[in-house]
Amino acid sequence: MEAHFITGTGTDIGKTWLACALLRHWLAEGRRPAALKPVLSGFDPLQPQASDAGALLAALGREVSSAELDAIAPWRFAASLSPDMAAAREGRRIDFVELVDFSRRAVAAPQRPLLIEGVGGVMAPLDETHTVRDWIVASGLPCVLVTGSYLGSLSHALTALEALARVMRSGIPGDGAGVAAIAVNETPGSTVALDATLEALSRHVAGIPLVAIARDSPQAGVARLAGLLCPEAV
Ligand SMILES: Nc1ncnc2c1ncn2[C@@H]1O[C@H](COP(=O)(O)OP(=O)(O)OP(=O)(O)O)[C@@H](O)[C@H]1O
Ligand SMILES: [Mg+2]
Repeated sequence: MEAHFITGTGTDIGKTWLACALLRHWLAEGRRPAALKPVLSGFDPLQPQASDAGALLAALGREVSSAELDAIAPWRFAASLSPDMAAAREGRRIDFVELVDFSRRAVAAPQRPLLIEGVGGVMAPLDETHTVRDWIVASGLPCVLVTGSYLGSLSHALTALEALARVMRSGIPGDGAGVAAIAVNETPGSTVALDATLEALSRHVAGIPLVAIARDSPQAGVARLAGLLCPEAV
């Protein structure tokens, strides 16, 4: 469907970096991709270009203006906290129905490929009752799970997949569309080698493509993932 939700095992794992790399790859192929980062915490209005939304807009070659930020990241909060806490700091809350409507409008629009970056990890709370997982399912999009290669990342990746599998493979109509790919973004300085992480993960994950993103030569992994998510020729 050429529209995907980018989630991860946690914050700072490389969702935005990878989304930007995919957007640049598709632009270089002559496509006209789109990206959203609907919920943003830790947003500094004096440095919008340093935010995830700023990075995505720059990758798309769009201006980092208030109008563009409103278009792709309407829920912006100052505190670097989980979205529910960051919103509460400002006496606000994220209306889950509005967030899902916003995401679905982008999915219904024709522009492809489309990436929607989540916030934090799969189970990051959005309000008192909803997490990112609920948002992924409600968006109807297949997701890309970004994980790392640090010691402990295998458990984090498998835990995230288990959480997703619980809601995505129940057979209930309207359930999420599954996990399209797992991107293992190499953790710098890790004691665990990237290929060893992939090999170990592959023994526990059946039927989901695993893509290695090597720090010193990321392009091969980015290109493979871009092709998996958006296979048709231009
Ligand atoms: N493969 C990579 N090569 C170089 N830098 C990377 C790579 N992956 C991540 N980074 C850097 O690591 C930091 C964290 O990555 P990023 O911001 O993409 O994480 P995130 O999962 O989007 O975090 P958040 O939860 O805040 O949205 C950033 O400074 C980013 O540029
Ligand atoms: Mg990000």
